[in-house]
Amino acid sequence: MKKEVKVFAPASVANVAVGYDILGFALERPGDEIIVRFADHEGLQISKITGDNGKLPYEVQKNTAGFAAQCLLEHLGETKRGIEMEIHKKMPFGSGLGSSAASSAAGVWAVNELLGTPLSKREVLHFAVLGEQIADGAYHADNVAPALLGGMVLIRNNKELDVHQLPVPDGLVASVVYPHIKILTKDARGVLSPNLPLPKMIQQCGNLAGMIIGLYQSDFSLIGRSLKDVVIEPQRAQLIPPFYEVKKAALAAGALGCSISGAGPSIFALSQGREKAEHVAQAMAQVFNNHQIPVEEFVSSVNQSGAIKI
Ligand code: HSE
Repeated sequence: MKKEVKVFAPASVANVAVGYDILGFALERPGDEIIVRFADHEGLQISKITGDNGKLPYEVQKNTAGFAAQCLLEHLGETKRGIEMEIHKKMPFGSGLGSSAASSAAGVWAVNELLGTPLSKREVLHFAVLGEQIADGAYHADNVAPALLGGMVLIRNNKELDVHQLPVPDGLVASVVYPHIKILTKDARGVLSPNLPLPKMIQQCGNLAGMIIGLYQSDFSLIGRSLKDVVIEPQRAQLIPPFYEVKKAALAAGALGCSISGAGPSIFALSQGREKAEHVAQAMAQVFNNHQIPVEEFVSSVNQSGAIKI
């Protein structure tokens, strides 16, 4: 039997209310699994995809995981090496939970592990971002960096991939509700105005800075006061009809803050303690249930491992 490696990479919450395109954290679950093994044919081939309802392309150049892995192989001068890839999608597409980023991160890390780990996670990050870029057209690492590296990650500059893992206070727990509403990231990016009034920029910068200080100082009250998106959320809320009702329910149930996860439609909240987070998730899901919109809920600490061999 030829050598094989199986890797899991998690879902992630991008933006985290105050860091559009520059802040994200990884969840414990859901996530994607990718298996790679050496094969007799030449080059990388995708041999199996499950859990995608036939939606993902087998063509390496068009597949986020395949393309990311191929970019890494080219960088390493290993394009002739026969490698077979299986992709097992275990999370929904278009959910705002970084589905393509999870595949991309798992794809590069699996191939890197198969080749004996020649590069570090930081060194393969660029290739994972290239993979995700073919899914939504933009080069930003707010889902890919947490999916690969784990933790809560601030990207000071996407082009330079100047990424920083932030401390996460013990007991900070996320509640995530994924309503079965379809939103394409492309469309959710399309509704955003390219201009930002100065007073909004001032508020958003203050909140991002406050969030970071809150994380460093384990100051839950400061995290709660800071977790307010005055720029992106008001423009995207219309795409998720009961958004403000869900947010109200989350805050009433004791969440520190609540906003849209990535480009939506998932909505996340952060709470102090798992019990509170469970309660918040139920309150959020109840609102969607009242609107007859099916949901999936996840309650998760921040996943510090990112992509891992399983
Ligand atoms: N930061 C991105 C957005 C995440 O909100 O559009 C989704 O790719």
